[in-house]
Amino acid sequence: MARIDALMSDMTLTEKIGQLVMVTAGTPVTGPVAAGDPTSGVRDGRIGSLLNLFGAGETAAMQTIAVEESRLGIPLFFGFDVVHGHRTVFPIPLGEAAAFDPDLWEATARTAAEEAAADGIDLTFAPMIDVARDPRWGRIAEGPGEDPLVASRMAAAKVRGFQGAALADPRSVAATAKHFAAYGAPAAGRDYASVDISERTLRDVYLPPFAAAVRAGAAAIMPAFNDIAGIPMTAHLPLLRDWLRGELGFRGVLISDYNAIAELLNHGVAADLAEAAALALTAGVDIDMMSPAYEQGLPEALDRGLVSLADIDAAVRRVLVLKERLGLFDAPTGRQQATGAGVASARRERAREAARRSIVLLKNDGGLLPLAAGIARIAVVGPLAEARAEMVGPWWGAGDRATPVTIIEGLRAALPHARIETAATDPDAVVDPAALDLQAADLVVLCLGETAAMSGEAASRADPGIPDDQRALAEAVLASGRPVVVLLSSGRPLIAPWLFERAPCVLATWFLGHQAGHAIADVLTGHADASGRLPVTWPRAVGQIPIHAGERPSGRPANADDPYTSKYLDLPVTPQFPFGHGLSFAAIDIVAVEVGHPAAGDAGGAPWIFRPGEAVDILVRLENRGARGGEETVFVFLRDPVASVARPLLELKDFARIGLAPGDRGVLRFRLGTDAFAFLGPDLAPRTEPGAFEICIGRSADRDALIRTTIRLIA
Ligand code: BGC
Repeated sequence: MARIDALMSDMTLTEKIGQLVMVTAGTPVTGPVAAGDPTSGVRDGRIGSLLNLFGAGETAAMQTIAVEESRLGIPLFFGFDVVHGHRTVFPIPLGEAAAFDPDLWEATARTAAEEAAADGIDLTFAPMIDVARDPRWGRIAEGPGEDPLVASRMAAAKVRGFQGAALADPRSVAATAKHFAAYGAPAAGRDYASVDISERTLRDVYLPPFAAAVRAGAAAIMPAFNDIAGIPMTAHLPLLRDWLRGELGFRGVLISDYNAIAELLNHGVAADLAEAAALALTAGVDIDMMSPAYEQGLPEALDRGLVSLADIDAAVRRVLVLKERLGLFDAPTGRQQATGAGVASARRERAREAARRSIVLLKNDGGLLPLAAGIARIAVVGPLAEARAEMVGPWWGAGDRATPVTIIEGLRAALPHARIETAATDPDAVVDPAALDLQAADLVVLCLGETAAMSGEAASRADPGIPDDQRALAEAVLASGRPVVVLLSSGRPLIAPWLFERAPCVLATWFLGHQAGHAIADVLTGHADASGRLPVTWPRAVGQIPIHAGERPSGRPANADDPYTSKYLDLPVTPQFPFGHGLSFAAIDIVAVEVGHPAAGDAGGAPWIFRPGEAVDILVRLENRGARGGEETVFVFLRDPVASVARPLLELKDFARIGLAPGDRGVLRFRLGTDAFAFLGPDLAPRTEPGAFEICIGRSADRDALIRTTIRLIA
């Protein structure tokens, strides 16, 4: 740290504040305000980092100006949103979450890091680990879905993948866990809107993924745009200073979201930029991304005594330490000079694997899929059939939107002997169903859903269903009497009960990235099993939102025969599809569950007993009783039926996958430590209470289908 001490004693106030200023320098525009040419600011030491500039040559040229032409020669760092791939675009995170595979999540982040680093990127604004239970919110696409355990595992896997063994490795990039916190719970699903949730839900659901990211060593964290109960996250002393830095011991850098510090004025908690800057800095926000607050407001905040020089110094030191850890002082263009990201064909294969494993087979009546080997004639219709750029979804990094494999290209490559005809339409075109002659087709593949711009940031939808003109097309196709397979492209669960009622076969294909068409063909042909499972509960109607597997019990649980119970007059309380739902081409059944010891909880047998400090072992025996090999995902939920605080109807504690050939049997083993049985008591302090617990094992969160075993914790 001697180098940093020496630098800091040399820096003027302007140069110090400069280290806290990040501006955009490239063409991707990711916020409402744009910047001019940053060169003179870099040269004058008024800018410490840039976002949205990529390319080895471009970043190296700018870095050379910082290092050779600024007074102190402090290197810049370059930040970029590498959300689901950099050059090679992988499935959107919500899709990838459906694979329920931390090794895959880590591997795709690793590839993305290597590609980004070769493009001169030092830090990514990812992973996005906002739990989201509201598909109206467009950014549900960017994250892990509804469950805090899944989000925590994804957070850790992505941080490991981005950062590798060491930040100084020129093939690694620093990770920024975002958006801290509860950004996924805006009122009415409207992006950037206010959040008002209980301290318990915050601690049970929204904070754990960030704790996991910090434990995995995330270098940076981005506070969210929203307020919680009136305190904007950019100025949230209790959560930023006391919880994140205090309780959790986070030593890294806090980077504001785009223009968020200046937006403290709009929130109504600061009267001017000096007050806004003081609020953010005092809460521990080190870097001001794209707002004038630190540059223009901090000097005045210092004069007015709203901040101290020690506060500024602490932030500057954290930024310089990050630059040191990234190896930038010793090798300012080390990333640009390192050998690239490995073999392109291997990256393509990884993208194809990630994409096919993200696909969720929602419905497959009559075993329409996989396609019969000799299928002769397929009609591929709908606005997404030939849509290329749409396949990457929101946040495509530096990916080329001219090269994704379309659905029809994927099918043609996989079925060279079949006659594949298309009546694809422009994503925005109104379709005349009468123009379609489908009678000659053995099968119709109907490609419906959203365009990329319909999900992601600033893309909330009050009615997240299938656009009306597509519905007209779908009705016509379904009325044709031909067998129909529906592919739903989207960044969220799409609400379309009419479709699920009438279409025999539907797959959620999200936005699958560059290899979309090939991955879809892999699954439709049965070359790969349909192995994705829903990371989010799929609602029947907007009126059910928010809906998720972890709801708490009601004093009047829904009962069809009793009007005074918790239900709707006009809709079932159950979702369209539960969390974890997804069909396989195999028929892998759970044949036995053993908790603690064989036959625990059998009829007549006393529940298995365990004590604090003892682990609970769970063994799940499975058998593939079908004619095809495939993969199943098993979920371990906990239910604590009596506690001093009402506990959720289901809490996910673990999950694992197993692949089985036809006729094969296999075993999945799980182990729950005592901490899995702890919860926050009435005082919000963690506690474990003796008594009965149910271990609920199943292939989804369908409560009626779970295999429940009661065990007892004794003091
Ligand atoms: C988004 C962030 C993103 C930033 C920089 C903001 O609008 O909320 O997720 O990292 O822009 O592009």
